[in-house]
Amino acid sequence: MILNNHLTQISNVLVIGCGGAGLRSAIEVKKAGLDVSILGKRPRSDAHTVLAAGGINAAFGNLDTEDSWQQHFVDTYLEGYGIGNPSKIEIMAKEAPFLVTEIDKWGANFAKLEDGNFNQRYFGAHKYRRTCFSGDYTGLSILKTLLKKVDDLKIPIYDSEYVTELLIKKDICFGAMSFNTCTAERTIHLADAVIICTGGHTRIWKKSSSRKNENTGDGYYLALNAGCKLVDMEMVQFHPSGMLFPEEFEGTLVTEAVRGEGGKLINNKGERFMINYDNERMELSTRDKVALANYNEIKEGRGTKRGGVYLDISHKSKDFIIEKLPSIYKQFLEIQMLDISKSPMEVAPTAHYSMGGILVDPNNLSTSVKGLFAAGEVAGGLHGANRLGGNSLAEILVFGKRAGLASIDYSKKLNQQERSSKAINSAHENINKFIKNGTELVRPLHYELRQIMWENCGVIKSKDLLNIGLDKIRFIKTKLKDIDIRINEHSCEDLALIFDLQSSLISAEATILSALERNESRGAHQRSDFQRTDPKCEFNCLIQMDQTSQKLKVSKSTLKKLNKPLQNFVNISSREENFKNKLLE
Ligand code: FUM
Repeated sequence: MILNNHLTQISNVLVIGCGGAGLRSAIEVKKAGLDVSILGKRPRSDAHTVLAAGGINAAFGNLDTEDSWQQHFVDTYLEGYGIGNPSKIEIMAKEAPFLVTEIDKWGANFAKLEDGNFNQRYFGAHKYRRTCFSGDYTGLSILKTLLKKVDDLKIPIYDSEYVTELLIKKDICFGAMSFNTCTAERTIHLADAVIICTGGHTRIWKKSSSRKNENTGDGYYLALNAGCKLVDMEMVQFHPSGMLFPEEFEGTLVTEAVRGEGGKLINNKGERFMINYDNERMELSTRDKVALANYNEIKEGRGTKRGGVYLDISHKSKDFIIEKLPSIYKQFLEIQMLDISKSPMEVAPTAHYSMGGILVDPNNLSTSVKGLFAAGEVAGGLHGANRLGGNSLAEILVFGKRAGLASIDYSKKLNQQERSSKAINSAHENINKFIKNGTELVRPLHYELRQIMWENCGVIKSKDLLNIGLDKIRFIKTKLKDIDIRINEHSCEDLALIFDLQSSLISAEATILSALERNESRGAHQRSDFQRTDPKCEFNCLIQMDQTSQKLKVSKSTLKKLNKPLQNFVNISSREENFKNKLLE
């Protein structure tokens, strides 16, 4: 076992996270001839990107020729309830078609029409068919393609490396500390620039579409500790359809592509209940509305015995289902022995996506700490209060590439870099402090936190519930002083788990503090004590860590407003006009 001893690794750019955003940014750096390394705590081919199943949005207009980047902008901005950053949305809507074309050429092999153009499916709340896809495994195709490119370019990926801390001197980032999750060996990574691409924090809810040890909020902890701000942390997306059983698969994603391909939501009375919530768009309404509808039906006693609603695609032929939804067909057959071409699935809301995150400049993804960038789910600003399905995969490619480009620029302009042995020693100490024989075991604390977040900060929140949750979370934090973490040459899993827990607790606290600040309901943020959307609340919540007291501070700010009328983008329809007026009234 090595304490206060480390290997040293040097590169121009260090990427933390080996999901889609991380890989895409590293590719850009390497293409420019700079040294880049990628670190990941999980196996390299199994990033959470594989769970963005149903598709990637790009306004090609192949099936609906009226579509345009402007309409993609309008859909994303309006359905984000007016608090997404318009500049970031515009960049995504304009650039997604280029990035989708590029990755298809690299081998992603998206579904095509007879004329060779991309096929595009409906996804919730998109005005037109805009979502390009590979069956229902689009994220997997993208990840595999990026990994192949990374290998072709000989970019090193160090997986099983857990990053515990960013190394900072005078508000400038000069690298990161990591330990190997198999050997506990520590490495100091020195770099001109660091890009955080570590995903979100939705694993901290009991029902989650994230798997074990992913999306535990690591990036938020690293960023807060380094001095960055987080934005809109209260905006957590609950996907309408997660699996219900067996317990170990509770929350597992049932892709929106099922509804995109004609799936119907039915309650225990046999009613297609979306008619009562959005009779125009029905099952293809926004995720916040469909999730809330499912939640209400279940809460009000119209759910299934197991506590879900039915999602039925059995009116389509088996051949159609196997062609368009091969993974979901297999998933239900293998896990529940259910043939979805014959019987409906049972689904319920599941925590799916962190719409808030690290505050970044929308153009170059820089944070308030020099040399530090963030892209993908870990960064905030794009989705506002509600994310449109299919925008996350567009986000990782567009902003992954941009973060890579910005880090190249930063690295090339750097004449010298100050480093600090004090920061390195402190990073060692921050690992050492956890290695001790106490009485608290780390796994039960993770479990407790997930229960608290589900019960107190779930689909519907209130001041009372949130405050109870906050107290409980702060109580768990006190238990970290007496934690039992043992490492040996066979295992240091507990060490990774305690760092995950530390990140999860701070992310949970940031989420609750932001949720308490927003006294209204808006998109995914639903409060039983403030049920209306309040036009006076078109602000963004910011969270920062006081570096002396280590306490989180919350503040409000309006980061960026739309500076030209939506009509300047497209002729907006009466529904969009009404929606906009409602937002502004
Ligand atoms: O339902 C889905 O396939 C998820 C896609 C997404 O979150 O973008």
